[in-house]
Amino acid sequence: MTIRPQDLGDPSFRSDLGLEYNYLAGAMANGIASVELVAAMARTGMLGFFGAAGLSLSRVEDAIQRLKSEVPNKPFGFNLIHSPNEPRHEMAIAELFLREEIRLVEASAYLDLTLPLILYRLHGIYRDAKGNVVTPNRVIGKVSRIEVATKFFSPAPERFVNELVQLGKLTPEQGKLAALVPVAQDVTAEADSGGHTDNRPAITLVPTIIALRDRLQAQYNYSQPLRVGAAGGISTPASVAAAFIMGAAYVVSGSINQSCVESGSCPTVRKMLAESGQADVAMAPAADMFEMGVKVQVLKRGTMFPMRAQKLYETYREYASIELIPAPEKAQLEKTIFRSSLEEIWEQTKEFFIKRDPEQVTRAEKDPKHKMALVFRWYLGQSSRWANSGEPTRVVDYQIWCGPAMGAFNEWVKGSFLEKPENRKAGIVALNLLHGATQLMQFRISSLLGLAKQGNSSPLPVEFEKLKEQLGYAGVPA
Ligand SMILES: Cc1cc2nc3c(=O)[nH]c(=O)nc-3n(C[C@H](O)[C@H](O)[C@H](O)COP(=O)(O)O)c2cc1C
Repeated sequence: MTIRPQDLGDPSFRSDLGLEYNYLAGAMANGIASVELVAAMARTGMLGFFGAAGLSLSRVEDAIQRLKSEVPNKPFGFNLIHSPNEPRHEMAIAELFLREEIRLVEASAYLDLTLPLILYRLHGIYRDAKGNVVTPNRVIGKVSRIEVATKFFSPAPERFVNELVQLGKLTPEQGKLAALVPVAQDVTAEADSGGHTDNRPAITLVPTIIALRDRLQAQYNYSQPLRVGAAGGISTPASVAAAFIMGAAYVVSGSINQSCVESGSCPTVRKMLAESGQADVAMAPAADMFEMGVKVQVLKRGTMFPMRAQKLYETYREYASIELIPAPEKAQLEKTIFRSSLEEIWEQTKEFFIKRDPEQVTRAEKDPKHKMALVFRWYLGQSSRWANSGEPTRVVDYQIWCGPAMGAFNEWVKGSFLEKPENRKAGIVALNLLHGATQLMQFRISSLLGLAKQGNSSPLPVEFEKLKEQLGYAGVPA
């Protein structure tokens, strides 16, 4: 018996999405999941999601055109991210995807569903000649919580469907069909990961979401059965094998792809990631939901970002306005973190928001605490930009989203050609993980059956030429 990488996971997922392997590279904000990364995944017979979060409409539009010309007729997707602070932007992105006929999105950061998401999902829904309900647009929901998974696996809420019918975006007939399909046929259970995370262990989250899927499939009896994927910690043959053995239809990686050559990050960041261990990560305040105390998982080795961001959060909590921060404390922030006066930072912040969202400025001028939040969020926003662009004077402030998956991967590839970040091509990394997972599964099954000796062998990464031979692989990972 031979287990092959192309057999791992749910076969209906592969055929529905046009993939050779049930392996996905999750979106990474600000184009870190770049056109090059998404194209590399597509060429390898896998799926990547462009990191649209944090980018302007025109940057996203540009990425769409580039992907359409670089990998025509191959599957790729985009991130549709919940933007509670910018609902108009979320709608504009959804409408852009509709105009450009982007057929697949990874929907993330949703705690509740929104009108743009439902519009995207239901746009063009129809009943075909055989009586099947067809939805041209596919949503893969990414969640860390059972309540949110329930919403994705259920039909769209009636209030949104009615609103879309009233707005003329759906016909009344389409509105009725909405009750027959889930918002997302596929939901990724996101365990402890880089970026936004609830830090749940995959071995507890994945089975829970799978059990939920079974209950909701029985309840709604959808003609196309629901599926669950696994994300968070996917970075070694063992984690990939474990996810598939737990019943994941597909796996999604994230942190490891940022350290690959195609990522939209910079060489310094790739090197920092490649040198990190599993414990070199920390939770730090998030730029987008700073005031609410939401956190993201970031690299802590080689950067002071987590400490400095935490200091800003504590200062924000303690004082009602910038003016009430004691002078020595304010001077310290200006010297170490901002390298400028807070008044100067406010001027820059104001200029930014006047173009992007002028209501923020009006609010800040009335509410000094909001003004302080916007000024502090300047640092949280810039620190990601400095990391992506490789700003040499701000290495200690780099905000690098990263989960323990990165350290586990580094440990696995130690001593192999994948140790150096310049050799890490996302397609080759992914093929090695799948290949290693099949070897590991085979070994474990054989030893359980008493056909091989027990041991701790972990398959080592294999160079592409050799891998090609072993897999009989015809793809072209670029
Ligand atoms: C640098 C970075 C940026 C990310 N940005 C996003 C994002 O914008 N949208 C999103 O849905 N997920 C984002 N993620 C999460 C990944 O898509 C993926 O789900 C996650 O990283 C998987 O867990 P892992 O980091 O343990 O591999 C990001 C992850 C990283 C490491």
